[in-house]
Amino acid sequence: MIAGTILLAALAPGCRKDVPLDGPSTDGSGYEPGEELGGGATTTFDLGQNAFNHPAANLTDDEGSTFVVGNSFFTQNWVTAPSSTTGRDGLGPIFNAQSCSGCHLRDGRGRPAASAEGVAGFLLRLSVPGSDVFGGPAPHPAYGTQFQPLSILGVASEGSFSITYGPVPGTFADGTPYELQQPSYTIAGAYGPIGDALVSPRVAQQLCGMGLLEAIPAFEILANQHIPNSDGVSGRANYVHDVALNATVLGRFGWKANEPSVRQQTAGAFNGDIGITSTLFPSDQCTSAQHDCLDAINGNDPGNAFELAPQTLDNVTFYTATLGVPVRRNAQDPTVLKGKALFTAAGCATCHRPSYVTGPSALSPALAHQRIFPYTDLLLHDMGPALGDGRPDFLADGNEWRTPPLWGIGLFQTTNGHTRYLHDGRARDLTEAILWHGGEGAAAQERFRNMTASERQALLAFLHSL
Ligand code: HEC
Ligand code: HEC
Repeated sequence: MIAGTILLAALAPGCRKDVPLDGPSTDGSGYEPGEELGGGATTTFDLGQNAFNHPAANLTDDEGSTFVVGNSFFTQNWVTAPSSTTGRDGLGPIFNAQSCSGCHLRDGRGRPAASAEGVAGFLLRLSVPGSDVFGGPAPHPAYGTQFQPLSILGVASEGSFSITYGPVPGTFADGTPYELQQPSYTIAGAYGPIGDALVSPRVAQQLCGMGLLEAIPAFEILANQHIPNSDGVSGRANYVHDVALNATVLGRFGWKANEPSVRQQTAGAFNGDIGITSTLFPSDQCTSAQHDCLDAINGNDPGNAFELAPQTLDNVTFYTATLGVPVRRNAQDPTVLKGKALFTAAGCATCHRPSYVTGPSALSPALAHQRIFPYTDLLLHDMGPALGDGRPDFLADGNEWRTPPLWGIGLFQTTNGHTRYLHDGRARDLTEAILWHGGEGAAAQERFRNMTASERQALLAFLHSL
């Protein structure tokens, strides 16, 4: 067993290799054959700035062409209507960014920033208490369900906001002190008082493996729900409104599992973030308080009641769903393997479920029947009041968040030049992200706090290898 490990550790990280002699051990330690291929056959091997930017490695040539077309509509800016570039006009009237990549820069992770700093992949969701007819968030009467700090010429934006941080000191069990930062938000609304709006700050996630998460059979996710274990961890599914099906279905995407599919998430982003209407969301997000917004010229092509060609929605959906998953680094390094064992022992893997085999995929055979390692149960967990936003999102209450997939989290410094984590990017590194775990995550957090410095380093080495 030791011989096998040493032999394979000598291979360059990231190259395809045969499986080692020793299989996985029952406590979650030990190298598992193929675990560095987090996205199965979709896994990509560039570990530079564009690590999140590549198509799944197993797309056909035709699929690769669709990916390229989708990519162009993901990255290029939308412009104010009317314009000679009819395929890309209709921006706003109010919006958060001019393109998808304005927030999902190189398909990587956004960070918190107030609008004055430019778009960095961050937005504020809004609502008022109660729910809409589908059980989703109830829109604020003047500002809707999202704060849009940008607008086209002649229309007032919704205003501006600022973020301040207050210190939250703590100490590891070995006496080492640390200091977390708790954010608070001030909104200066341009359409009257924002009142007691419920505000949910969220950063843009890395977009690797979206179609793989969509191809996880629903029963696998539902089977992750259990009665609270000795750590008090249970987890429950979110059920959300599927616009195309006009039905309530399992939620998978977004920080609260508040979207059912890559397609609806994509159309929702076009509509809410860029101001582009589509078959799924045919109206701009102007509220009845926003007259100039309602009167602005739209970018509909002749004969269409919306701005996004259906084929373009399909292409961008395909692009987003078939981004590959970057290969893991140093998966067989002894410190990484020690950290992997600690990850299981501390109870992290209960929520951050390591692996699945995907089922069929309606989007591409490349996504089907792959063994993947996303490290999520895709369920909601009560993470305690300090992480809570107080804003319900379908079944998710103010303290509940979807366990985020951990694939790619070691790459943000390389791809996006920062190491901000959690739904609002408050954590400045992985240590802070773990220390914020409360509620159902409190027992795991406490075990981390009680680790020795070298154990903490090993756990972090494992996380950095993902
Ligand atoms: C203003 C910034 C912004 C823009 C522009 C934007 N996004 Fe996002 N994106 C986000 C945020 C924030 C989230 C998390 C949303 C939530 O939790 O509700 C997200 C989530 C997603 C997700 C789900 C990720 C996951 O892990 O569940 C996908 C897919 C996605 N966006 C695709 C797109 C596409 C496609 C576009 C362009 C049409 C786009 N986004 C434009 C900020 C943005
Ligand atoms: C009860 C379920 C649960 C347990 C147990 C748990 N986590 Fe999490 N984890 C979550 C949820 C939910 C979030 C998102 C919270 C948020 O963004 O506010 C999260 C976020 C994270 C993040 C940040 C991810 C990102 O994309 O920004 C890291 C890193 C992380 N967890 C690591 C760990 C480690 C290490 C452990 C064990 C010490 C652990 N988690 C235990 C549920 C859990």
